[in-house]
Amino acid sequence: MGCGFIGTTIGGAVEQMEEIEAINLIDLDYEAAVRLSSKLSKSVVFMSTEVELLIKASDLVIEAASHTAVEEIVPMVVEHGKDVMIMSVGALVDDDLWSDIKHKARKNSCKVYIPSGAISGIDGIVSGSMADLECVTLTVRKPPRGLSLPPELHHLSESLKDPTGPVVLFEGKAREAVRMFPRNVNVAATVSLAGIGFDRTMVKVIADPNVQRNIQRIDVRGRFGEMQLQMENQPSTSNPRTSYMAPLSAIAVIKKIVYGINIGN
Ligand SMILES: NC(=O)c1ccc[n+]([C@@H]2O[C@H](COP(=O)([O-])OP(=O)(O)OC[C@H]3O[C@@H](n4cnc5c(N)ncnc54)[C@H](O)[C@@H]3O)[C@@H](O)[C@H]2O)c1
Repeated sequence: MGCGFIGTTIGGAVEQMEEIEAINLIDLDYEAAVRLSSKLSKSVVFMSTEVELLIKASDLVIEAASHTAVEEIVPMVVEHGKDVMIMSVGALVDDDLWSDIKHKARKNSCKVYIPSGAISGIDGIVSGSMADLECVTLTVRKPPRGLSLPPELHHLSESLKDPTGPVVLFEGKAREAVRMFPRNVNVAATVSLAGIGFDRTMVKVIADPNVQRNIQRIDVRGRFGEMQLQMENQPSTSNPRTSYMAPLSAIAVIKKIVYGINIGN
């Protein structure tokens, strides 16, 4: 669901897996689904009005579309007892939505997969959270062209076209960061869900003209000890907001599901 950069990269990888019988495609933009379908021999295109048909025809629904798709479609997927993978993780900042998805998934014995996406170190945060975690801080540093500004920061858009140095756009709770940068900080949501939640995870977002890649740093402290981790992610060529690592992580989870080998927690 969603045939943009992530959906297209996943489709190409899944096409190579003999165990996968069919790849069902759906996109609000029908042409995007048809374009991707033309590259995949075992694909079937559904109209955007045929969401329920697509769900019934699939064993695993992979959302790589938008927050709205998570809100409107993911509860329907688990209600039908089908497994789901969520990429637009920021939507889960809505506590009621997340509770509803978890409740329906448990009731209908289906699985919800949230890949690490563009961030690494999620394994360490999840393991560390089995004892007390004191603090989790995520710092996201991106080239200005890779950031969409929220309305309250539009006054910075001119200066960000040709900035002379790094500009701190946000510093505060993950809950607020996800609201302000829904397309940019899905990773803040993943880190929050893995560790100490949206209100205790702290986030800093920096537009930095001196970097070419999406740089994410995680600092974690807890009873396990401390972890510092820095990623330098290559942005995709077709969508500079999305790091190449995001679809790679989804493909890694699909391989775990298909081949049953789980490495890492
Ligand atoms: N988890 C992560 O680390 C991570 C990283 C990057 C991006 N993302 C998220 O993953 C999603 C996909 O990213 P992308 O780079 O492939 O985006 P993209 O813009 O390249 O593609 C998104 C596609 O989804 C389609 N779409 C949007 N809403 C839809 C809906 N309700 N139903 C069906 N199709 C719909 C669009 O028409 C578009 O073709 C985005 O929400 C993005 O924020 C997550």
